[in-house]
Amino acid sequence: MSRYGATPGGTVTVPELGEMKRRDERIVMVTAYDFPSAKLADAAGVDVVLVGDSAAMTVLGHDTTVPATMDEMVMLTRAAARGAERPLVVADMPFGSFQVSDEDALRNAVRFVKEAGADSVKVEGAGPTVSRVLALVGAGIPVMGHVGLTPQSAAMLGGFRAQGRTADKALKLLEDALALERAGCFAIVLEAVPAAVAARVTQALSVPTIGIGSGLECDGQVLVLHDVLGLYEGRAARFVKRYADLATEIRGALERFAADVRAGAFPEEAHTYSIPEEELVAFEAALSDSRAGSRREG
Ligand code: KIV
Repeated sequence: MSRYGATPGGTVTVPELGEMKRRDERIVMVTAYDFPSAKLADAAGVDVVLVGDSAAMTVLGHDTTVPATMDEMVMLTRAAARGAERPLVVADMPFGSFQVSDEDALRNAVRFVKEAGADSVKVEGAGPTVSRVLALVGAGIPVMGHVGLTPQSAAMLGGFRAQGRTADKALKLLEDALALERAGCFAIVLEAVPAAVAARVTQALSVPTIGIGSGLECDGQVLVLHDVLGLYEGRAARFVKRYADLATEIRGALERFAADVRAGAFPEEAHTYSIPEEELVAFEAALSDSRAGSRREG
């Protein structure tokens, strides 16, 4: 496993993502929150695995990303990092883990790298986040930025809605992205940004942009694994494209399993272990001896 530069089939590195932008090669990023999904993403040729704090919703059942804790994110990242050999692993810093101070941000980012095996971390927003990026990059931890719709501050943004839809807001978004680039971010997620605005931001930055609901002109695209696979039965966001309907598949499989169990149709011979006949006879003899013994004692 080489960590030195990108070789075809080798691991994806931070500089390689910049090279991909320069070569006009699209970057593929998907979320994963455990070993099997990260392994499948790797086998599918995905470049970047994001252990997103969307896990709070997709795997932990919360209504927003806000409740995700450091301990939960470290555990999920550790599992995903074991499965992702080639992709770059980005751990999402959960709400509260970097907002308070640069020191807090650094302490928590170090946990992701040392305890969980992440290659890098992602932080939402600009403003005070810029100083966090400087602190983390200064300590040698690669950082991915995230602007536009930043779910951790959805309440401030008036809900889960597109961002940068006026000239002023689009300009502010561009300035935020440039500030994050100057602070040392190696890539920036643009979430729910009008395609034309995302295209201008992508041109203005020398680091790659990874879009989600931000049009085709971004340098890469990311989607949440559960959306790609159709693991939710509810309505998805406008920008989601489902590539499978696994919720229906999984529910069907579980219904067939339950029906088989109830009908006595599972397990079949093929799913059952045997014992040699003479061992079974000896076992039954021992059983009746011990029953006779306990009757005598009683
Ligand atoms: O948490 C997450 O999954 C994300 C992506 C949607 C970019 O931040």
